[in-house]
Amino acid sequence: MVLDQVELNPYIYSFETLDNIYLYLPYKQTLASFSKEEWARIKSLNVESNIAKALGEKKIYVEQGYSENFIELYKKQIGSPSLRIVYIISTDACNFNCRYCFIENNFNTQNRSTAKVDEVIKWVDYALANSNDELRFIFYGGEPLLNKELVLNAINHINEQRQKYHKSIAISINTNGSIYSDEFADTFKKSRVNLSISLDGPKELNDKGRVTKIGDSAFDLAFENIWKYIDKGVNVSLSITITKYNINFLPQIARWIVDTFKGKINGVGFNPPMESEFGNPITVEDFKLVMLQIYNAFRIFKKYGIYEDRVMRRLNAIIDERPHLKDCAGVGNQIVIAADGKIGPCQAFIGSGRYFKDIAPEEYNFKSDETILEWNSITPVNKEECKKCPFILICGNGCPYYASLKDGTIHGLDRRYCEMLPIMMNEILKDNFYGKIKAIFLDYDDTLMLRGNLGEVLDEVAKIFGIVYKIDYKKFMEENAGYLNVRDFFVANGVSEAEINKVIVAYIKAFKKGSRLNTWLIEQLKKINLPTFILTNNSERMVIDELRENRVEGYFAGVFGNSLYKKPSKEFYEHVFKTTGYRPEEILYIGDSMRDLLPIYNFGCRVALLSPKDENYTQILENEWLVDLCQ
Ligand SMILES: C[S@@+](CC[C@H](N)C(=O)[O-])C[C@H]1O[C@@H](n2cnc3c(N)ncnc32)[C@H](O)[C@@H]1O
Ligand code: SF4
Ligand code: SF4
Repeated sequence: MVLDQVELNPYIYSFETLDNIYLYLPYKQTLASFSKEEWARIKSLNVESNIAKALGEKKIYVEQGYSENFIELYKKQIGSPSLRIVYIISTDACNFNCRYCFIENNFNTQNRSTAKVDEVIKWVDYALANSNDELRFIFYGGEPLLNKELVLNAINHINEQRQKYHKSIAISINTNGSIYSDEFADTFKKSRVNLSISLDGPKELNDKGRVTKIGDSAFDLAFENIWKYIDKGVNVSLSITITKYNINFLPQIARWIVDTFKGKINGVGFNPPMESEFGNPITVEDFKLVMLQIYNAFRIFKKYGIYEDRVMRRLNAIIDERPHLKDCAGVGNQIVIAADGKIGPCQAFIGSGRYFKDIAPEEYNFKSDETILEWNSITPVNKEECKKCPFILICGNGCPYYASLKDGTIHGLDRRYCEMLPIMMNEILKDNFYGKIKAIFLDYDDTLMLRGNLGEVLDEVAKIFGIVYKIDYKKFMEENAGYLNVRDFFVANGVSEAEINKVIVAYIKAFKKGSRLNTWLIEQLKKINLPTFILTNNSERMVIDELRENRVEGYFAGVFGNSLYKKPSKEFYEHVFKTTGYRPEEILYIGDSMRDLLPIYNFGCRVALLSPKDENYTQILENEWLVDLCQ
């Protein structure tokens, strides 16, 4: 390796902690870590030749002009379409009216179709004859089990054909779980069907998004039938769609699933929120949060041997050192048989009918179908915006339907992935290189100490002292990184130096009056049994007094308040790390919002979101998820 002809691989993705740098690069899915000193020498090419050779072999150094050849190399791997998945839309009608549904909400007519058995069977035979080693049939809808005749006949037919073909043939059904019959259960068991039932969490969360047309609880129906199918020996997995109601509780939901279904659930899949042509009234905008929550939930599922597909398929690519160029079978590996008999690449378009055509199986050629060929070319290596992205070989970007909604073309970007991938990679690197969690850093207000309504507290103080607020506290907090420095706030509202201390004392009294301790969290901290430090923007004195009044001060190893630095400044966290002696790699930080989590996340800490004041919070979720994250 000639050092003056090489450069650092331009695709390196990295994040730093206080002492170290962790990196990923899209060459044999390499993960690596260096101390910052080592990294400085590597960056300036100031290394001995044998180390340089090793770094060259890992492609941390590359020859100049590497990028152009790199993209070309992977373009060649895309290959021609190959059929692996067949979606069978048994019916595009549904007995539910889920608020987010990107299938039902895309139809602009009440007319619905029901698939015909003989037509579907012809397509099944086509697929069996025109696929390679692995083929999966997925019954989908609408609600697929509404068309009993089709489901039972098609499954029996596929099952009969299994012996004839030397390939792996799998069958799945995505259902809302509202329909059970012994005949279904017996057939599903016999044919080794994977029954994926949609459930977005416990009843309080599930039923806010998933709604039946007749007014019954969607949860009650699905829950009862999940157990009936499990008891009959059917393979059941869960499909969890992320909404604004359950987003703050995905790790809790993971543990709830573990406790509720006691090892009887085979797998789970999270669906990041998608929109229909008419939007999604209960979507989540922050996809960093979506990924952080999915990843912590994934950690819990993994601990109990439950497979979460979205993270696992990327981890498998890393473990196998192979590129993951496509994340959806729609782009060249799938056909969808719509309920009206038409054929297309993606179920999200059955409402609009775009990309679907009327054709008989005898005339159809999957590999030369122009729509399939166009979709087959959709992958990051063919996208201009992805050409310099470090995640180009692991992302698989994403969803052509979403891209078409947002960019007007299926060749656009699914930008949800650009937010999610860095978070996913950070967490993968942490799991790969970090050791056990050794200490907990904990936010105070609204995490450990649940406060009353701040507006009411301020009104009470205003009444006592005759203050008229010129600056609204919400605006003040917005301008101060979400924190209310009480002294600054009252001074800004014209309270004089002479009065300020009295005003603050009155404020603290009113503030504490409406507060209550998060006793569930104290119980969890006892079980976790790690040194726990409170990080707050209150005064240390006030927090320590309050802990004493609640008789819990013994559970905490220290309190960092606003006496020297203010949270969330960089200096504040550096001071905490220095004083406690813990490194970011050893910490789990628990806080009540992304705004609170992100500053310390950027030091490389693992983080957990606890939102006990979220209006969707329910005590059912008070389980041992935090203990799981600490082990
Ligand atoms: C469209 S449904 C069809 C099958 C069946 N009716 C069911 O509910 O499982 C398949 C999956 O898509 C999910 N889904 C529907 N709308 C969605 C959206 N806007 N974003 C993400 N997933 C969604 C559902 O929750 C369900 O798990
Ligand atoms: S049950 Fe499935 S198809 Fe029906 S509205 Fe809900 S998500 Fe959509
Ligand atoms: S979609 Fe975004 S994250 Fe994925 S490869 Fe392209 S630029 Fe990177």
